[in-house]
Amino acid sequence: MSKNAAISAARLSVAPMMDWTDRHCRYLHRLMTREALLYTEMVTAPAVIHGDRARLLGFNEAEHPVALQLGGSDPAELAQATKIAADLGYDEINLNVGCPSDRVQSGFFGAVLMERAELVADCVAAMMSASPVEVTVKCRIGVDDQTPEEVLPEFLARVSAAGVNRFTIHARKAWLQGLSPKENRDIPPLDYPLVHQMKEIFPHLHLSVNGGITTLDQAKGFLEAGLDGVMIGRAAYHEPASVLLRADAEIFGQPERGLSAEDIVRQMLPYIEDHLASDGRLHQITRHMLGLFTGRPGARGWRRVLSEGASKDGAGIALVEQALAQVTQRAA
Ligand SMILES: Cc1cc2nc3c(=O)[nH]c(=O)nc-3n(C[C@H](O)[C@H](O)[C@H](O)COP(=O)(O)O)c2cc1C
Repeated sequence: MSKNAAISAARLSVAPMMDWTDRHCRYLHRLMTREALLYTEMVTAPAVIHGDRARLLGFNEAEHPVALQLGGSDPAELAQATKIAADLGYDEINLNVGCPSDRVQSGFFGAVLMERAELVADCVAAMMSASPVEVTVKCRIGVDDQTPEEVLPEFLARVSAAGVNRFTIHARKAWLQGLSPKENRDIPPLDYPLVHQMKEIFPHLHLSVNGGITTLDQAKGFLEAGLDGVMIGRAAYHEPASVLLRADAEIFGQPERGLSAEDIVRQMLPYIEDHLASDGRLHQITRHMLGLFTGRPGARGWRRVLSEGASKDGAGIALVEQALAQVTQRAA
């Protein structure tokens, strides 16, 4: 996969989400969109270096283009982790400058790095020197009492001077004290106009907007207004059919494939069988499929059958068929 593949895919991306965008989730999403860029969960640089690489970094070739998100603030460690990930075939390595959780703050990385643009520049420079794979950054518009109008352009200028050309901006601050990570995704207000301003100031940078985007129409609006990419997180996870199934046609101008959520379930079956045959559990895959029929008759039955049964010993394809019947019988 070439460097350009990740750039053109970044017109629409599915956000990195801890515990959600694991390899099974990404495989599911890839069946729904051939074009969009898929991000892993964040993996810390020390975990990449010292941890169980097959478990933390393993992915299916079908997932390309796929970007690994790293957490860290030690340039040497990040460089080493980048080299390892690049050798495994990731199409992009992204540095997390947006996650506000306590664990991440104490390790001194994530959103707190919005206050340390110099250090971020050192990190990305080290990462870029470790491999030819493109290095990108996902950031906030600021943290705590920073003034985003001042901090964000300074941050982008400093980090792009170190060689990064592509950024995703989660268009709200992170408040490092007093809010949980979940609250930090909802409570600080969104400031989309500031992201548009950044594109005016830095027309040469590839800028994606993230935060609160739930439909492809909204995504198209941002692209038509001049932004280079849109990243969608929770909506893509909870309602993958409405966000991802039409993405290739609507966002990338590809021919309509006419796939339904039912088709996607059927296409998942061989993958599920392989997983079960190598001692995996059904639930590990189907937990990402619960939202496939959201808004359709039978959606509740689909979710109920899978939620109640998929963790049980011996749960397999028959349970998926039984859950699917909840939807198809209602449609008949
Ligand atoms: C469960 C969950 C886990 C997340 N984990 C990460 C993460 O590992 N790295 C990261 O940069 N952002 C993480 N985020 C934030 C998302 O990438 C995204 O910035 C945020 O949800 C806003 O986009 P949305 O409104 O489209 O969901 C996470 C979000 C959720 C809901």
